[in-house]
Amino acid sequence: MKKLYAVIGDPIGHSMSPVMHNDLFSYYQIDGHYMPFLVKAEQLEDAVRGLKAIGIGGFNVTVPHKSGIIPFLDGVDELAADIGAVNTVVNEDGKLIGYNTDGPGFLQGLMNELPSIEGKNILVIGAGGAARAIYFTLAKERAVEIDIANRTVSKAESLIDDCPYQSSSIALSLEDAGKNMEKYDLIVQTTMIGMAPKTMECPLDLSVIKHQALVCDIIYNPLQTKFLQEAEHKGARIQNGIEMFVYQGALAFEKWTGIFPDVKRMRNMVLKQLGGSTC
Ligand code: ATR
Repeated sequence: MKKLYAVIGDPIGHSMSPVMHNDLFSYYQIDGHYMPFLVKAEQLEDAVRGLKAIGIGGFNVTVPHKSGIIPFLDGVDELAADIGAVNTVVNEDGKLIGYNTDGPGFLQGLMNELPSIEGKNILVIGAGGAARAIYFTLAKERAVEIDIANRTVSKAESLIDDCPYQSSSIALSLEDAGKNMEKYDLIVQTTMIGMAPKTMECPLDLSVIKHQALVCDIIYNPLQTKFLQEAEHKGARIQNGIEMFVYQGALAFEKWTGIFPDVKRMRNMVLKQLGGSTC
């Protein structure tokens, strides 16, 4: 019998996950189907119960339910529990178990450009949910020098205090981080600043930057944010948010099917949906 997979969130109409995963199901000849479901916060518990009752194979969880879903699951893995957010649920013998593939997805995408983060000076810009997943994952991976810059510095301080993995980190304002950019080998922009339609916005001034630093932005619409354009202009290597999106999906697909899928195929599928050129 065909297995059902899903993504739940609010809003959900824009999600590129259904096209990406349905393409993989047909490519690997797996009898599965992936559907988006709009779920309001007040219906989350009922929705999770319903998905469990119909024997769902697994599902993704997106904004605003990544934290709220945790009490309704049968279990949560260690990293997801530490981050306090679940983006992937797997039906394991009738039990719904939550995972976080956002942070690990970012890390895998990063590895294509930067095979080792050991000894690197890292700056994370932002202190919201995405920053939390990335910061904890990098710290768990033993990246020790990870500073966090945020508009509200106290939120960056809380993120550092909350992190259960050893790291030497300082919290900075965006202005202070902007003055010390030449210190960093890797800069990860995790806020929504510069996302369409406000594509002219930039989180901080990139006047000086280390030559050959790697600058990542988790935004993929536009494919090159103003921040990435400026970084490239200053001689940095850049990576857009397609990588994190595709790898979080690849890791979810692997958890559901046991197959680590063809990431190049997924990337092309996403680029096609975004109207960009494929590679
Ligand atoms: P997400 O879960 O997608 O990471 P979030 O939790 O709402 O989203 O976090 C948004 C991040 O973007 C925060 O770091 C936020 O800064 P504050 O903590 O000061 O709110 C940052 N952010 C959003 N809009 C911003 C803006 N206009 N200027 C600077 N930072 C902004």
